[in-house]
Amino acid sequence: MNARELERAYALEVFPKRDLTIVRGEGACVWDDEGRRYIDCVGGIGVASIGHANPAVAEAVAEQARVLVSCPGIFYNDVRARLLAELVSIAPAGLTGAFLCNSGAEAVEAAIKFARLATGRTGIVSAMRGFHGRTLGALSATHKKEYREPFGPLVPGCPRDHRSADRRSGGHADGGTGRLTLRADSAIRPGSNGRSRGRAPRPRQTRSR
Ligand SMILES: Cc1ncc(COP(=O)(O)O)c(C=O)c1O
Repeated sequence: MNARELERAYALEVFPKRDLTIVRGEGACVWDDEGRRYIDCVGGIGVASIGHANPAVAEAVAEQARVLVSCPGIFYNDVRARLLAELVSIAPAGLTGAFLCNSGAEAVEAAIKFARLATGRTGIVSAMRGFHGRTLGALSATHKKEYREPFGPLVPGCPRDHRSADRRSGGHADGGTGRLTLRADSAIRPGSNGRSRGRAPRPRQTRSR
């Protein structure tokens, strides 16, 4: 069986697929199994933003795999320590710590939990048309009902429209929410309240009160 047949046979499929088998990449390009080249306009959906088969990345990954494959958070680790320090050194002023995780959805889950811990409140307001991932918390903040509705009940207190949240509670989603603004793909659309109008479309999650 070829790749398409194997995936069709064995994957618990969650994505509608393009009829294309991608087998390798270099820089901003990827190739299919028939040797056709494409420009990867999604950067591996944000994962390969510094290019495919980047020699420095490949070498660093291989080198680390030869030294230590994984180090759980219950121990200190020299390489992780350097990464954390480097991340904080280039982060915007006021961000003094970093949380390392494996996916966008995990980052959103962490943001929701950090916000709950920091504020003691549970309401989450996310931007209209935003996509935040497919885990239950991230899904609760995701706009498209086609993604959410088959999986309810989701996390309560997550209106996906700040205007309805504001209307209901005079500014707060549940009358006492810590506002976590999850701003992602929706940032390419002008905000209805003028605050985000004209901003560059940078995918990001930000927290504000
Ligand atoms: C804006 C945004 N947030 C979160 C996610 C979820 O990321 P992941 O697929 O790594 O869990 C995505 C994935 O496409 C995304 O585009």
